[in-house]
Amino acid sequence: MTENIKAYVFDAYGTLFDVYSVFEEVEDIFPDKGEEISQLWRQKQIEYSFIRELIGRYRPFSQVTKEALQFACEQAGVSLNKEQEIRLMKKYNELTLYPEVKDVLHQLNPKQKAIFSNGSSDMLNPLIERYSLMNDLDSLITADLRKFYKPVPASYMTVIETLHVKRENVLFMSSNSWDIIGAKSFGFNTAWINRGGKVMDKLGIDPDFVYKDLTGILDHV
Ligand code: LAC
Repeated sequence: MTENIKAYVFDAYGTLFDVYSVFEEVEDIFPDKGEEISQLWRQKQIEYSFIRELIGRYRPFSQVTKEALQFACEQAGVSLNKEQEIRLMKKYNELTLYPEVKDVLHQLNPKQKAIFSNGSSDMLNPLIERYSLMNDLDSLITADLRKFYKPVPASYMTVIETLHVKRENVLFMSSNSWDIIGAKSFGFNTAWINRGGKVMDKLGIDPDFVYKDLTGILDHV
């Protein structure tokens, strides 16, 4: 398969950036509620993107993320004021970069590399700039370009149209099993970056490769 890979495409949240690195900030604002709120925040962020896609009411991921935070705080029984909301949303634009990312991106040079994320560019650009990732990336592709959220096929089509490659020439990497299932179903080669040692969801669609972090994809260079 290695010889036909013309583009290495990375999911962002959970794959390049640790979405749970907001924990300390949440815990600082809401002591003993950090774990509950952080987990619920991510769960609802994803759930809301699915629901919005299904009912045809697309809104940018920044709005989805803010609304998921509002839900998570209310569900946890705490009152989120505007200043705290702004502080936590700012933190979401400063997530921790997983330690192996820069080295793996650099070792993949000069291969074509892109981020493909449900995130909106107003959320992702600060992260890309914070870690100078565009030195080792060719493009940032967001669901916002065509207003289709992963895992619908139309969303992955954005990658094909942007990079001008065939689906069989893409290796797509994500830590999110639902994203891997969508990408594989669409026709990409897939590497599940199973950082949490999870069980793959049971939908009869399995990744081509499974790695505990991104270093495993260097086998395909
Ligand atoms: C992303 C998240 C939703 O698309 O995994 O970056």
